Amino acid sequence: MRKTVIAGNWKMNLSEKEAISLAQSIKEKIPSVAKDRIPMVFPSPLHLASVARILEGTGVVVGAQNCYPSGLAAFTGETSPEQLREIGVKVVMIGHSERRQFLGESSSFCNEKIHYLLKNGYTALYCVGETLAERESGKTFEVIASQVKEGLKGIESNSFSNLILAYEPVWAIGTGKVATPAQAQEVHAFIRKEVAGLFVGASGVAESLSILYGGSVKPDNVTALLKEKDIDGGLVGGASQKIDSYQGLF
Ligand code: PGA
Repeated sequence: MRKTVIAGNWKMNLSEKEAISLAQSIKEKIPSVAKDRIPMVFPSPLHLASVARILEGTGVVVGAQNCYPSGLAAFTGETSPEQLREIGVKVVMIGHSERRQFLGESSSFCNEKIHYLLKNGYTALYCVGETLAERESGKTFEVIASQVKEGLKGIESNSFSNLILAYEPVWAIGTGKVATPAQAQEVHAFIRKEVAGLFVGASGVAESLSILYGGSVKPDNVTALLKEKDIDGGLVGGASQKIDSYQGLF
């Protein structure tokens, strides 16, 4: 059974006061409306511990936006998954397009992170997506295939229960230009097919994988997107950062 996930990506937004107040409102309002959708939030690293404390035991999963694939060690400015575990955080987003685009994160570095996380009992939320230029030049499927293959290289089929994928077309992020449900479905089905190809002989793996769609998801388009066969939830930026619109996604 695939899990349906509504993941809120707070990015580098919200002051400490705003993050705490949003977490408190989520604690009050989301558990009763979440039902068959798993709520997740990804606050800025500075607010993770406070938000995790507020949401502990509520069923709202708190995740980190990034990590470095190592135990405690000399990597200035980075965060180890071991430090995340200490504050109750066991889900980490990997390869968001803003990290790929502005911080030079490659699929092969994402692959190192995913290996580390899955080997050590964490869940990885791995993001892929094409830019507008790539889509317009007909390269969407080529780009997605390479991000999927490189990012998931060498991952054992038995660790797939701790993996979630997200398809986020870069041209739809923060732009208000949402992919149509049909456009998104086409790429989701392709991703599932690519994943199936990576695991010959483990046929259930790709079918049981949750693939979230991200890019201008809002309360008024979430239902149509989630109706598609291969769309198993949303990775939501802007609309997840206010309680009313986040609640509207459930
Ligand atoms: P958006 O962001 O919902 O604001 O488009 C999505 C994301 O970047 O995860």
